[in-house]
Amino acid sequence: MTTSKGLIEAINGPADIRKTSKKCVVNRRTFLLTSGIATATVMVAMHTSEGLAKVPALVATYERKLIGKLSELKVDEPLDFNYPDEGAYSDSMIVKLGKQAGGGIGPDKDVVAFNYICTHQGGPLHGTYKPNDKALGPCPLHLTTFDLTRHGMFISGQAYQSLPQVLLELEGDNIYAVGMFGLIYGRYDNLKG
Ligand code: FES
Repeated sequence: MTTSKGLIEAINGPADIRKTSKKCVVNRRTFLLTSGIATATVMVAMHTSEGLAKVPALVATYERKLIGKLSELKVDEPLDFNYPDEGAYSDSMIVKLGKQAGGGIGPDKDVVAFNYICTHQGGPLHGTYKPNDKALGPCPLHLTTFDLTRHGMFISGQAYQSLPQVLLELEGDNIYAVGMFGLIYGRYDNLKG
């Protein structure tokens, strides 16, 4: 299986597709993602020392998993699932934000999914979804909040890594998880705890 053009376009649009061979490792966490079925480098909007800029980032694909139906999602009502396996730190959520988001699928590009474990020290973000801010947090341990419209970038608090985003594909009414953008907390590889 190779990373589908559709998947990368879902993240950033056709103009931003980059070849895998031009791998640019942002940091050790993104490097560790290379164990997936396939990887690709995409351009993602992130905060840098020069402000908000598009930077290269690595995404990895894993086994495709059916996680729900588009028609059953209600705005601002997250549903829980596990990905890429059922092991530790695989707790994740999918939500229809009602607002277009990076990596969003569906006619409004507003359906996104994220891992629930805070990238700082593993705090649980379950039940912290904030509809007004389209964010997860604040983390109960050190108060980090993550922006779900911008690939899980941290808004405030102690974390300095974005929340891992579960990459989604839509086929008819079925929503599939197909990969991860970011390394899950507590894992040296998204498939190994
Ligand atoms: S563990 Fe979440 S902010 Fe520290």
